Amino acid sequence: MELFCGAGGMSLGLKQAGFEIVNAYDAWPVAVENYNRNISSHAKVTDLGDILSVVPELLRLAPDMIAGGPPCQDYSSAGRREEADNAKLTLAFAILVATVRPAWFVMENVTNAAKSSTWQEARKILKAAGYGITESKLDASRYGVPQSRRRLFVIGRQGERDGFLASSIAAAAAPQPMSLRDLFGEATPAAIYFPATSEARRSIWSPDEPAPTIRERSIRPLPVSYRPHPDDAALVENGFVYARPVRAGRGVRSIDEPYPTVTRTASERPGPKYLSSPHPADPVAASSTVVLSIDQISRVQGFPASWQWRASAKRDVLQMIANAVPAPVAFAIGRAILDREEGKSAPAIEGRFLDWLVRRGRSRQSARNVKSLAGRARRLLDGKTFSVQALELAALESVEEFKAIKRNPQSDLRQALRLLAEYQTEGQQRQKRSQIAAQPIDEELRKAA
Ligand SMILES: C[S@@+](CC[C@H](N)C(=O)[O-])C[C@H]1O[C@@H](n2cnc3c(N)ncnc32)[C@H](O)[C@@H]1O
Repeated sequence: MELFCGAGGMSLGLKQAGFEIVNAYDAWPVAVENYNRNISSHAKVTDLGDILSVVPELLRLAPDMIAGGPPCQDYSSAGRREEADNAKLTLAFAILVATVRPAWFVMENVTNAAKSSTWQEARKILKAAGYGITESKLDASRYGVPQSRRRLFVIGRQGERDGFLASSIAAAAAPQPMSLRDLFGEATPAAIYFPATSEARRSIWSPDEPAPTIRERSIRPLPVSYRPHPDDAALVENGFVYARPVRAGRGVRSIDEPYPTVTRTASERPGPKYLSSPHPADPVAASSTVVLSIDQISRVQGFPASWQWRASAKRDVLQMIANAVPAPVAFAIGRAILDREEGKSAPAIEGRFLDWLVRRGRSRQSARNVKSLAGRARRLLDGKTFSVQALELAALESVEEFKAIKRNPQSDLRQALRLLAEYQTEGQQRQKRSQIAAQPIDEELRKAA
């Protein structure tokens, strides 16, 4: 189920990852209409600030997961830092999750939200409702879109330890950011040439329809007359793109870099103000660059070329695009969740656990054994972590494969899990202490801001 679904970027990625989406809600009729046209007709216009009006339906549908990106402009780095009415909807999200208690939840927001007092309050509600929480700040350009877009993803699962999914999400990141050339250099052409087998048949096909039966003669060199989509060709040929900087940043990028974070002003041409005082690091003059079309901005945000936008104002289309979670990012998060749910992944055990064991008097070799036994125990538990140690050990005792192991190796596995839990608890306490120590400074900074 998705709350604050917008036009459906997150739903699209989760669907592609293998989720079935039962219902979606958003207060903006235009976004709901676009969602229903492109995803499925289950989105409803609903004010989620009015919690009581939705709780009965959510409880009846009892979803396995609630996803959502509550509106974030109040703590966005582009806007004011005040946490006003919109930020309260983050609280509504937490209250709805805590009331319905699905096994999992996913929340997306700007990275600044992590420091906000609203998120700290929401976090307390979710912890009290029994969720282990992973907070990961991701750059979308490492997760399948050519766009530098840093966002906070909070993933919760009932009964887990905090940080339980962080290593799987980090492992899904590509080693290099995706560039605009990666997307547009090999873009699907607007027309595809399949030489016809007879004069009565056509030779030009759209990429949105199935290809004709592939025969030996279909595989031929492209004719010289072949041209990629004119907009993409112009972009690749020019090599530079302008995107109005949000603050005092660079306006011009090479297509060998990711695009900056898509905003609703993404399609604006450079104005006289920028042209008269350009950013000193611009690689070429803004006047000689290309500005992306709405269709291209939509693809930079991970929407497929077949996606149909409809709105009376272009501004609304850009707003829906800029609001969205790029579908490939939601896909990566969704896969990490499903893999863990299906027991196909387990959290990585930090290398620092070895040093901790050595500091407690073990030899390097013995520490390595303990680490590998802890890893085996985790896999026996299908990768699940437990916030309560006694529950973790009880779960291990009930695993058939564990029962079949001899007594001594069984107690080695138990001991390894106990040590790992002790190490993690110490780490969490250390983190909490340092957060408390940093709080007065944060408070002063907030007041100064
Ligand atoms: C950041 S966008 C979510 C985008 C979505 N996750 C996606 O991937 O396309 C936030 C959404 O919250 C919606 N919203 C704002 N206030 C709301 C309210 N009171 N009730 C429900 N939705 C609201 C906005 O219309 C907007 O579509």
